[in-house]
Amino acid sequence: MTICSSFITVICLIVNISFVNSAENMSFILSHGVVPDVVDVSPTEAVHVSYDSGVNVNQGNELTPTQVKNEPIKVNWLAEEGSNYTLCMTDPDAPSRAEPSKREVLHWLVVNIPGNEIKKGEILAEYIGSGAPKGTGLHRYVFLVYQQPGVLTCDEPRISNRSREGRINFSIRNFAVKYNLGQPVAGNLFQAQYDDYVPKLHEQLSG
Ligand SMILES: *[C@@H]1O[C@H](CO)[C@@H](O)[C@H](O)[C@H]1NC(C)=O
Ligand SMILES: *[C@@H]1O[C@H](CO)[C@@H](O)[C@H](O)[C@H]1NC(C)=O
Ligand SMILES: *[C@@H]1O[C@H](CO)[C@@H](O)[C@H](O)[C@H]1NC(C)=O
Ligand SMILES: *[C@@H]1O[C@H](CO)[C@@H](O)[C@H](O)[C@H]1NC(C)=O
Repeated sequence: MTICSSFITVICLIVNISFVNSAENMSFILSHGVVPDVVDVSPTEAVHVSYDSGVNVNQGNELTPTQVKNEPIKVNWLAEEGSNYTLCMTDPDAPSRAEPSKREVLHWLVVNIPGNEIKKGEILAEYIGSGAPKGTGLHRYVFLVYQQPGVLTCDEPRISNRSREGRINFSIRNFAVKYNLGQPVAGNLFQAQYDDYVPKLHEQLSG
């Protein structure tokens, strides 16, 4: 082997290693049961979500309802230029993970997001934080991003952050089928259980 070709080999190795490091290990999607409870196939990228309380959503970490009560200040994913995306936050563990008879509760749904500029998207359901009832244990709050095949025209009634209507018995899987969104391209989740912000959220949702 010439010095020149081994030099190229080393360069290739370095490029390869940095590529591997930049790809995220998404095994947490499987270990937290997001597949099969919410989606059929794991996304291959993480969506990065930060709150004004200073916390981040990270691979099923536990956060409190108080920490996530306001809409995230930052949501980021690897967006392809010229594509529109759908962003969803959903709770499959309603009323509890053990007895999810109301699976899912829809917490946030924004469609027609150009790239990852959420503010320019169309809100179908305004953001609400965790409302895990007392004594129901940890709920999973799952963020999913879908790359749309084009612009969506949705017939769902718009849901305000003062309303429960249309949030219960939601299925992001069915929504994705209805609008031909395929499998999610990015995902993440946190978990939360009851704290004293929850009664305030339930009061807000009663109008
Ligand atoms: C991904 O993370 C899991 C759990 O931490 C670990 O068992 C697995 O080996 C990791 N896979 C890769 C390819 O790094
Ligand atoms: C993304 O959506 C906007 C409208 O919200 C539209 O003007 C634009 O053409 C869409 N881009 C693509 C690639 O579909
Ligand atoms: C509810 O949504 C409105 C915008 O429609 C926003 O101004 C308000 O801050 C939200 N309230 C909460 C508690 O998130
Ligand atoms: C949710 O679905 C369950 C079972 O399909 C049904 O019994 C219940 O009435 C539904 N609840 C709402 C609010 O639609």
